[in-house]
Amino acid sequence: MVFRAPGRVNLIGEHTDYNGGFVLPACIGFSCWVAAAPREDRKLVVHSENFNETVEACTDANHLRPTRKWSDYPFGVAWVLQEAGHLLRGANLYVRGEIPLGAGLSSSAAIEVAVTCALLHCSGYEIDRTKVPIYSQRAENDFVGARCGIMDQFVSCNGRAGHAVLLDCRSLEYRLVPFFDDIRLVVCNTMVKHAHGEGEYNSRHRECEEGVQRLSAALPGIRSLREVAMRDLEKHRDLLPEVIYRRCRHVITENERVPRAAAALCEGNITAFGERMAESHSSLRDDFQVSCPELDLMVNLASKHPGVHGSRMTGGGFGGCTVNLVNRAVADEFKRSIESEYHAATGRHPDIFVCDTSQGVERVPIDAGESALRGFAQ
Ligand code: GLA
Repeated sequence: MVFRAPGRVNLIGEHTDYNGGFVLPACIGFSCWVAAAPREDRKLVVHSENFNETVEACTDANHLRPTRKWSDYPFGVAWVLQEAGHLLRGANLYVRGEIPLGAGLSSSAAIEVAVTCALLHCSGYEIDRTKVPIYSQRAENDFVGARCGIMDQFVSCNGRAGHAVLLDCRSLEYRLVPFFDDIRLVVCNTMVKHAHGEGEYNSRHRECEEGVQRLSAALPGIRSLREVAMRDLEKHRDLLPEVIYRRCRHVITENERVPRAAAALCEGNITAFGERMAESHSSLRDDFQVSCPELDLMVNLASKHPGVHGSRMTGGGFGGCTVNLVNRAVADEFKRSIESEYHAATGRHPDIFVCDTSQGVERVPIDAGESALRGFAQ
């Protein structure tokens, strides 16, 4: 059997997921494909086409240890599923990823989701789309060691072609919101990935926790910034160092922007949607401080271009991609202009992907899977 799980682009709602807030991502047409076949023993044998490497381990949780390479994703999933009480059979997995690595388009969430589905299926378990993202996130948090929120794994599971996903990361309730007609999602990769990014991500996470902890002196019982309104933040500003105040202000204002953006999407009001994107970018740049000169440049170049309704950095930040809402008719021309303008300004050739929204994880007919997985020997 073959499972396909897509990458994602986040339209708005950045650094809100691990604060119990709202996000509005969509799946895009790059996927991770995992072909799986059960084995008689309890071995997990995983081949990566991208890394041209085969690794193996025993599925027992006790035998699985992180090694800080790509195989931590599939082994992390096996570890979490065992910890959660599943008895896994052995399996052969063949993995092919087409999501650009390190661009912030959730290649790791996609492999986690596809492998979770493949291992559950091989061992005869039901695939529950509310639980798969939780297992996948746990693999990343507790085995791989990255403190991400649930957005990427959730949308990779539950996204739908033609829609964005409005997700409440506290309750995990979600709504599919039809995407704009005649608009393409153009993802522009700055081709930079600042090395300190992962440490900074974790430090933002800690700063938000510190904000909650300090504010709880005045707002007893709060557990996340989701429970703090702007007026409360202003009222108790003196409890917070300036940096923490700004981090909190980003999260709280972003949480207000997401439902407004989703409402604009429902109404087909792309101007209002674009305004929320611009506000989000400014807040990420100035208050949360996760943008960088290359991302700001990419947004500025895009914003001057006719036919662009919204542009902002997307994902964790410190490099990676911007997301742009562009009229279908000019999307290719936009791509060409940005390629040359960004290159002229930085000397780097950006990767630009003109995308549409796509479908969340699915089991694909074996023929489609086979042609996508040339060389799978099982
Ligand atoms: C990364 C994480 C997500 C989310 C974003 C920022 O993509 O994986 O969980 O926190 O950053 O919004």
